[in-house]
Amino acid sequence: MEQRNEERNKTIIEIPTENTRQNPISNFELITDQTVFSNHEFVNDLLDVKQIQQGLETKDLGQNIFLYDSLPSTQVIAKELAVDFAKEGTMVISEEQTSGKGRMSRSWHSPKGAGLWFSFLLRPDVSLNQAPQLTLLCAVACAQAIEEVSKVVVHIKWPNDIYVNGKKVCGILTELVTDRNQIQSVIIGVGINVNQTAFPEELAEKATSLRLEAGKKVDRTKLLQTFCRQFEKLYETYLSAGFTPIKLLWEGSAISIGTDITARTPQGTFYGRALGIDEDGILELQLQDGSIKQIYSADIEVND
Ligand code: BTN
Repeated sequence: MEQRNEERNKTIIEIPTENTRQNPISNFELITDQTVFSNHEFVNDLLDVKQIQQGLETKDLGQNIFLYDSLPSTQVIAKELAVDFAKEGTMVISEEQTSGKGRMSRSWHSPKGAGLWFSFLLRPDVSLNQAPQLTLLCAVACAQAIEEVSKVVVHIKWPNDIYVNGKKVCGILTELVTDRNQIQSVIIGVGINVNQTAFPEELAEKATSLRLEAGKKVDRTKLLQTFCRQFEKLYETYLSAGFTPIKLLWEGSAISIGTDITARTPQGTFYGRALGIDEDGILELQLQDGSIKQIYSADIEVND
């Protein structure tokens, strides 16, 4: 018990630790035993662990899945599993999130059965500085999976928002569990708007779904399996060859590089030309006085 409590004292960057629960999965109902139909019709169906794993071409990612009907946030459970020594690639999925978390302390709209809301954990041997690279890697994997399955063409807006026709279809939130300035685990949360047919008024101007863009429903199981395959392939490349091949792929799908942008950061708003990303995945912004500012975290907007 003492060791467990010591583990729970590890630093979790970006959001406060919830240290009260001993078993992260005991307070919510896990979906453990859904029937798999041989003539499974994806369009009306809920996600099913057996079905996801039957078509999973990965070694680790998604091989250990916790699927819930409803959770406040998959991110919170994944972090608790990480602190509890869950295996690399462990994934938490929920059909609905009641307090989905977005970047920069925003919320993430996660209606039941309409999207893919999941978080997974990695234990890479990388430094804190390198952690943003994994977010960019994830954005590339999301873009590849979305294009392959839905046939919709997407773009990545720095650092990790996926856009279709000027509207956001997917967001990524990365958080770190650290121990004495070393990464103990990286928790990556992905939200993909898949089959929504409408959005609340406050989101309607800026968000879209794959269904709205493709004009037909999209198979969530297939999309998740494809994401897992693409992510793991890129992750293996990253671990063996470093960030450069990932950076090239990211740049190939990026909008806003080479354009004039406004970057709203926690430290203030900056205007300038987005020159590109550096070897750590940090955005380099050339300010109007010619100096280069490194942007670690921001919302960016392309200036007209
Ligand atoms: C963003 O603001 O663009 C990031 C959105 C990340 C949303 C996902 S949905 C699954 C996971 N659980 C959460 O609470 N957030 C992430």
